[in-house]
Amino acid sequence: MTIISGSILAANHAHLARDVTRAEKLGIERFHIDVTDGHYTHNLIFGNQVVEDLKKETKALLDVHLATYNLMSLAKQYAKSGADILTFQYETCNHPLRLINFIKEMGVKPAICFTPSTPYEAIDFFIEEVDIINLLAVEPGVGGQRFNGKIFSKIEKISEERKSRNKNLLISVDGGVNQNNIEMLVGSGVDILVIGSGVFQGNMEKNLEELKKIIS
Ligand code: DX5
Ligand code: ZN
Repeated sequence: MTIISGSILAANHAHLARDVTRAEKLGIERFHIDVTDGHYTHNLIFGNQVVEDLKKETKALLDVHLATYNLMSLAKQYAKSGADILTFQYETCNHPLRLINFIKEMGVKPAICFTPSTPYEAIDFFIEEVDIINLLAVEPGVGGQRFNGKIFSKIEKISEERKSRNKNLLISVDGGVNQNNIEMLVGSGVDILVIGSGVFQGNMEKNLEELKKIIS
């Protein structure tokens, strides 16, 4: 069954605990927490204290997406604050294998994230190294952007490779995921749909009911 990961960037930041617990009651078992640093990404969101405090409010898995520079140091801080998964940006990472090992040593699941313009050739190596590959279908940092369909060829390639190499890897898609592209995403082998606006904007009950209907 495809997993919906609720991206709290689109929730009400002044009422995060309320929105997260509401989504959890409606069946969401995983939340995606974007972290931006004002340098790689122009805005600033979700310090590690937010993760630490949300951890007390929900039993759901917390996936922290570091769309930042300075990954080693931030990974350490967010792991300490209770991240279950650390998703890091390939494009800002000088030593991805070192970071993956560091994340594993801290007892956290590593996931690597690629922007839409990074080609498949850069991804291939990591099929053996991580639990999750997260493909951004938008540029990082902002919710509500238009989905870039060019990522489909990467999804299909990863899906083929994990099968032929017999790897237990999850494929996640992040950004612009909505009712118009979910069917195609699921059909091409995506396991995790990271959805912000489509979960938290408007009527959450109605949103989740419709999303689940399409997925099943
Ligand atoms: C984009 C983020 C996404 C974003 C998705 O920078 O990585 O997690 O919150 O939001 P929507 O679903 O609104 O595109
Ligand atoms: Zn994200």
